[in-house]
Amino acid sequence: MGFFKAIATFVVIFSWLSADGNSFDLRKEETKCNMYQGKWVYDESFPLYNSSACPSIRKEFDCLKYGRLDLFYLKYRWQPSNCQLPRFDGLSFLKRFNGKKIMFIGDSLSLNIWQSLICMLHAAVPNSNIIRQKLNTTTISSVEFQDYNVSVMLFHSLYLVDVDEEKIGRVLNLNSMRNANLWKNVDVLVFNTWLWWYRRGPKQPWDYIKVEGKIVKDMDRMTAFKAALTTWAKWVDSDVETDKTKVIFQGISPSHYHGSDWGEPGVTNCLKETKPFNGTVYPVGLPEAVYVVKDVLSGIKKPVHLLDITALSQLRKEAHPSSYNAFRGMDCTHWCVAGLADTWNELLYAALLSF
Ligand SMILES: *[C@@H]1O[C@H](CO)[C@@H](O)[C@H](O)[C@H]1NC(C)=O
Ligand SMILES: *[C@@H]1O[C@H](CO)[C@@H](O)[C@H](O)[C@H]1NC(C)=O
Ligand SMILES: *[C@@H]1O[C@H](CO)[C@@H](O)[C@H](O)[C@H]1NC(C)=O
Ligand SMILES: *[C@@H]1O[C@H](CO)[C@@H](O)[C@H](O)[C@H]1NC(C)=O
Repeated sequence: MGFFKAIATFVVIFSWLSADGNSFDLRKEETKCNMYQGKWVYDESFPLYNSSACPSIRKEFDCLKYGRLDLFYLKYRWQPSNCQLPRFDGLSFLKRFNGKKIMFIGDSLSLNIWQSLICMLHAAVPNSNIIRQKLNTTTISSVEFQDYNVSVMLFHSLYLVDVDEEKIGRVLNLNSMRNANLWKNVDVLVFNTWLWWYRRGPKQPWDYIKVEGKIVKDMDRMTAFKAALTTWAKWVDSDVETDKTKVIFQGISPSHYHGSDWGEPGVTNCLKETKPFNGTVYPVGLPEAVYVVKDVLSGIKKPVHLLDITALSQLRKEAHPSSYNAFRGMDCTHWCVAGLADTWNELLYAALLSF
């Protein structure tokens, strides 16, 4: 019996034992509920933690520290249409994942959700021992909640597939995922890649693309993205033992630089936004990459959960750091911590219990 089945059983038994009407049977809820459909509601009991008490929020995300004064963005709770999300319980999370490793693999949006989860867990056990480590220099960061033997790790990878130094230069190899051996024995894997696929010019960290053995100077970026995801998907099917390792794909995170997307043409960033988009349907629709992700995921035979955060995050045009960060650049791509990524983790937690 797999670890997660054991957990699900535990949840059911626990709900039965507590029998107080507030208990939450996730498995039952999940079958009748798409938790990604819903709306944002103002909730005084949020945020889930005090960000100035969190030991290590990076300067890119610590909006309060860097002067943000409007605080509504901290007060929204995601309300699915047909069920309740359980309130995040960091202590029960740590107990359930005792002896386990959770790894976020991807670009800076993985960093974003990783930092949020650490704050959420830390808030539950502020006095417990935490060990921080950098493994393999810059690639892996690990935070271990030692008293619970839970490691929450970050594996930095812009494309999931490899960028290799070769004689001709740096080659983005769409068909190779060299690091995968370091991932496959981790208990929970949360993958993400998208942000870097349209980078060009000096910020583009490769010179050539290798696809099916051929070297090209460039190609349609969406096609390249799809090819890389397909490499990843094949690896999940061939190499991951999904009864031991749970696989999640963290969906496309939207940015807010085009006011016309949300009905304010002429606005070119998120600086003045203080409220979520008022409505449930975001005017511009979903980014094309979402359909590519769904298409590739639908071809995987093993169970993989899509953390489908795109639509609900599109509504949160006010939840980015904008200029409230250490470098004062305009950032409408990442998200303040505390903030929206906490909701991603609530959804991740609910998802982990349900499959
Ligand atoms: C948040 O934590 C900081 C630092 O520990 C503390 O000074 C502050 O009073 C706390 N704020 C709230 C609202 O609890
Ligand atoms: C912590 O968990 C690991 C498995 O991830 C296990 O090998 C180790 O013995 C555990 N350590 C303690 C102190 O329980
Ligand atoms: C570090 O990287 C090497 C080779 O890339 C690998 O063999 C080793 O297992 C890695 N260490 C950890 C802790 O992942
Ligand atoms: C959203 O729009 C409705 C009318 O369409 C309005 O009554 C409501 O006050 C608005 N809410 C916010 C938060 O602006």
